Amino acid sequence: MARPRVFVARRMLDPIRAELEASFDLDLHDSREPLPADELAARAAGCDGVVVITSDRADAALLDAAGPRLRVVANHGVGHDNVDVAAATARGVLVSYTPGVLTETVAELTIALALSLLRRVTEGDRVLRRGQAWPFGFNAFLGRGLDGLLLGLVGHGRIAQATERLARAHGMEVVHSSRRGGLPLDDLLARADVVSLHLPLTPESRHLIDARALSLMKPEAVLVNTSRGPIVDEAALAAALAAGRPGGAALDVFEREPEVTEALLGLENVVLAPHIGSATVTTRTAMGMLCVEALRAVLLEDRVPSNALNPEVWRR
Ligand code: 8YV
Repeated sequence: MARPRVFVARRMLDPIRAELEASFDLDLHDSREPLPADELAARAAGCDGVVVITSDRADAALLDAAGPRLRVVANHGVGHDNVDVAAATARGVLVSYTPGVLTETVAELTIALALSLLRRVTEGDRVLRRGQAWPFGFNAFLGRGLDGLLLGLVGHGRIAQATERLARAHGMEVVHSSRRGGLPLDDLLARADVVSLHLPLTPESRHLIDARALSLMKPEAVLVNTSRGPIVDEAALAAALAAGRPGGAALDVFEREPEVTEALLGLENVVLAPHIGSATVTTRTAMGMLCVEALRAVLLEDRVPSNALNPEVWRR
């Protein structure tokens, strides 16, 4: 029997590639660069399975271009705003994602970003790299420690809860605001010293943090975003930071990745990271294996994988 054909839209770690090659007739876009939508669709044509990452859109057009053989889309990410799950369900295509394995990794980066910003690590790094003089001064590079600050988590899922645990270990007080409870968002914004975003990108959360929301934050408070860029109105954030309220921002995700709003680049009170929330070898290997396992479950074992977003496809 011919092996199932699987298209993978981005370069994978070598061990994951080996696993894919061991089980499937693999077509790999072996590059860090994303494919344009039309090429992505053309490569998916005639495949039984497709693996996409966050910056690839798996929408109705791609699903239709893939054609009737397509049974599974494995999304290499816990966020799945890039996949039209309803369109997949309507076509009987199972969608898997990678929850759980990146929880601690993203939480850790959230704390790292908050610390870099509040203790001015990257700002100091720039001074040294520029060869600027840095005579020791008792009031030079004064920052704030996490101990005693109030962390406001927007969203309270797995990653937020892991962040809460790490934050408490650093002596922070923690409040949250989510659909299921906690503080009203406006109260959290007005009270928190560090506001950290941990929610999925949906029509409701797009630009949740806009000029009005930012104006509620305390002047010395800082914003951390390790979730999805479009939750923050990036132009409004740049303007607010330049005006001094809030006092800083640490961003791992951006509204139009890989673009970064130009005005943010010149601000000292901003820490920027290139979407590295899940970027450890251990975590990316685990994420890749969750994709491989979902493909194997559907295409080789004819069963629903545990990390399915639309398991109801199976029961029909
Ligand atoms: C990466 C992420 O973007 O899991 C997510 O939702 O944003 C990150 O882990 C992902 O690994 C790339 O597909």
